[in-house]
Amino acid sequence: MNGVTVVSHPLVQHKLTQMRKLETSTAGFRRLLREISLLLCYEVTRELPMTSETINTPMVEMEAPILDGKKLVFASVLRAGNGLLDGMLDLVPSARVAHVGLYRDHDTLEAVEYYFKAPESLDERLTIVVDPMLATANSAIMAVDKLKERGANNLRFVCLLAAPEGVENFTKAHPDVPIITASIDSHLNESGYIVPGLGDAGDRMYGTK
Ligand code: PRP
Ligand code: URA
Repeated sequence: MNGVTVVSHPLVQHKLTQMRKLETSTAGFRRLLREISLLLCYEVTRELPMTSETINTPMVEMEAPILDGKKLVFASVLRAGNGLLDGMLDLVPSARVAHVGLYRDHDTLEAVEYYFKAPESLDERLTIVVDPMLATANSAIMAVDKLKERGANNLRFVCLLAAPEGVENFTKAHPDVPIITASIDSHLNESGYIVPGLGDAGDRMYGTK
């Protein structure tokens, strides 16, 4: 699929299988999500712009590579996005963070906004939107709409699982935003859940129902 990267790294795929299992505990689910987020972060930051600076090693002076440009932004789609956010911040501790509070209305499957807070100067930063699940894509589309309204113009969307329907809807709405995912599953069921999926990501992360 155009604009979609499926991260097939064996560690990602192995950990994802553990997360899908019905018997995986809340603690185990959270730990695995954090571990996978490190690997997805590695993938999504692969093409960050670089510059160099002159440093002194104990041996010589050298021109050494460093990241260029303004600090990037991780935009977490609450609640479940925070499970990816934590690991990503471990790898990029200086990143800025946006929070986009959305929940999915269980009857209409429309996204409902309840919170939004983002750093300044989004127009000068790479914004990486994180949410484990891309189902209908209503939430992801609204999150990116809001971030674009605030000026973001260089975005990526990172998730753990995507449904083909969600990929299609998202790509239609935001063709400029690449998707990075660990899997594109089979389909959505009649309640809008990803199949085979892993269930409700927020509930499994936080032990709610
Ligand atoms: C889940 C998930 C996404 C959304 C995906 O959140 O984390 O945000 O559903 O579904 P969609 O692609 O059909 O919009 P949910 O609304 O369950 O909220 P939560 O994270 O607070 O549990
Ligand atoms: N949200 C989830 O948490 N899981 C799904 O399968 C679909 C939406």
